[in-house]
Amino acid sequence: MKVTPVSEIVGAEITDVNLADPISEDAKSALRKALLDHLVLVIRDQTLTPEQQVTFSEIWGELETPSNIEYTTEETHKVMILSNEIRPDGTAVGVVDGGDFWHSDSSHIEIPSAITILQSVRNPERGGDTEFCNMYAAYEGLSDDIKEKIDGLYGIHHVSKVGNKRVTISPDRPGAKDFYKAQAKARPKVIQPLVLEHPETGQKALYCSPRFTVGIHGMSEEESDPILDAIFAPITDRKRPNHYRHKYRENDLVMWDNRCICHRAVGGYGLPDIRRMHRTVVGGDRPYADQHIAA
Ligand code: OGA
Ligand code: MN
Repeated sequence: MKVTPVSEIVGAEITDVNLADPISEDAKSALRKALLDHLVLVIRDQTLTPEQQVTFSEIWGELETPSNIEYTTEETHKVMILSNEIRPDGTAVGVVDGGDFWHSDSSHIEIPSAITILQSVRNPERGGDTEFCNMYAAYEGLSDDIKEKIDGLYGIHHVSKVGNKRVTISPDRPGAKDFYKAQAKARPKVIQPLVLEHPETGQKALYCSPRFTVGIHGMSEEESDPILDAIFAPITDRKRPNHYRHKYRENDLVMWDNRCICHRAVGGYGLPDIRRMHRTVVGGDRPYADQHIAA
């Protein structure tokens, strides 16, 4: 197995390994180290079936069960489908607008996702990249003033796009507006530390996103808005100094560590061009914040 960094700041390419085979303890440790060192792994030439993807993913911990069974594979409901394909009857094959704004997976629930794994099954001719931001570097790059201000503060995270002025709802997803409206009512807000100490590396990472962080606990919107703008800036920065943009090759399997990575689906493709990804998620093992202090 060979590990080659794809950029100075984030991401490594892994070659000469077949994840469909049983994986030795040495290979597991090497992969673990590579993920902690590089935050995003691009493992080339993988053609895992949904069951094989589950077996590989379970090496990293217990998997989350996708909330919407409608968008999972026939072989196993632990694999979620991301796709823009629409059936003749108008229903979607998978999640159409997944990840279209900068975020860390499931930061809107008490125990957010630890690691996300995407097997690319079908790539569009154009577009469909995923962008990643190193959140250790994003934290490091903040001014001392902002670092001091956010020390010990909690971000308020919510799943719904309704009521979040920093995002919009994609017109490509059938019924999306009603879906998000229902979600806005049904799902509670949670709090997460704005600065997360990574449970395995102990390093400090910025932990917030324009997609899910809608406020700061204990602050009015006027107070929190300038702080949120300042901490979102290194994520959304057009110059992208802490970033890696992945352009999928055939048979790439890409995985990232949500505790130190913010990411987004760049888009830029459309029917009849089809993108399809198979997604598994390793759940976190404990909450980062005591939800009892939430308002
Ligand atoms: C995700 C996600 C990005 C992409 O699966 O969590 O954000 O490019 N995907 O599909
Ligand atoms: Mn995501």
